[in-house]
Amino acid sequence: MIPIIKPFLPPQKEYNSLISKIWENNWLTNDGPLVKKLEFNLKSYLGTNNFLFVNNGTNALMLAIRALELKGEIITTPFSFVATTSSIVWEHCTPIFVDIEQKTLNIDANKIEAAISDKTSAILATHVYGNPCEVEKIEAIAKKHNLKVIYDGAHAFGIRLNGKSIFEYGDISICSTHATKVFHTTEGGFLVTQSEEVFKKLESMRNFGFKDSTSFSCLGINAKNSEFHAAMGLINLKFQSQIFEKRKALTNLYDSNLFTEKLPLESILDKEHRNYSYYAILFESEEMLLECEKALKQQQIFTRRYFYPSLANSLPYVDTTNELPIVEDISKCVLCLPLYFDLKFSEVNLICSIIKDVLVNKYQKPSICL
Ligand SMILES: Cc1ncc(COP(=O)(O)O)c(C=O)c1O
Repeated sequence: MIPIIKPFLPPQKEYNSLISKIWENNWLTNDGPLVKKLEFNLKSYLGTNNFLFVNNGTNALMLAIRALELKGEIITTPFSFVATTSSIVWEHCTPIFVDIEQKTLNIDANKIEAAISDKTSAILATHVYGNPCEVEKIEAIAKKHNLKVIYDGAHAFGIRLNGKSIFEYGDISICSTHATKVFHTTEGGFLVTQSEEVFKKLESMRNFGFKDSTSFSCLGINAKNSEFHAAMGLINLKFQSQIFEKRKALTNLYDSNLFTEKLPLESILDKEHRNYSYYAILFESEEMLLECEKALKQQQIFTRRYFYPSLANSLPYVDTTNELPIVEDISKCVLCLPLYFDLKFSEVNLICSIIKDVLVNKYQKPSICL
């Protein structure tokens, strides 16, 4: 059996030795020494400043919307994980979907202005599969219309753009460090902001709104994370370059298997900005995708239609009236293939040969390109 994902697990001995510190300190949560150390190490690893470790990426999104005091409409992408939209609705704002760009699968920055109304307060965009959004264009639009920008960087751990961390863009950027992510803390996430004031607010909001032990500065929730999660992050970070290298090698193997002249599969990812978090391929038709998915499943190989259906027509709590032809087409044709540290090169070869067989034998059309 080949699953779509297997979380990275560090050597148990190393984890246990760090966990034994929790017993020594008898400090399990509430900004403990391991959480502080993880925040310090991640800040220096990523090169970011105002950084807060929280208990998941979804709460990070909700805190970001709350801390920026967003109201009314938030322009967002229909091609993302449900949490990108549900956090907007949870915070009593209305998501306004803008179609995606065919080549990057990110929100189409050229279509944002047409969706701005007098109720718009922000843009919330996802760096899909770690592929950076058009951050300069988005920033210019936000400035012109006095909007806030939040980036959902759940897939973007380790990505750098123009010489700095991708998390340094926007008023707030968030990341998920869930077990399935390229860097993980079992459950977890973090926020990065450029504003000292917003940082202080987020810090207080993460801890029930406490200002100090006897007073409150704002409305808060419990978005703290534990020493156990921080310990997992601290150990995993030590292996991060190995993790990236292995994922890169697996990605290159997928590319070389699927990107031959005979089989011109086109990557939907920007090659310069990869962190090898997902291996997504785009089929010419949904039928081809379903055939390949079925053939792989018959061999106990599991893939994921990430993201299908699009958020614009799958959420019972969101009304979408605008036309979004590109996302509707593309979300039917994207398939993520297995990609994780323990995946074997022979398994990648097997996956590719099954896909090629289906395309050549069934369609006599060995092409899955855009
Ligand atoms: C794009 C995106 N945003 C947000 C999230 C939510 O993160 P979490 O699972 O840590 O709450 C995810 C998680 O998969 C995601 O992929």
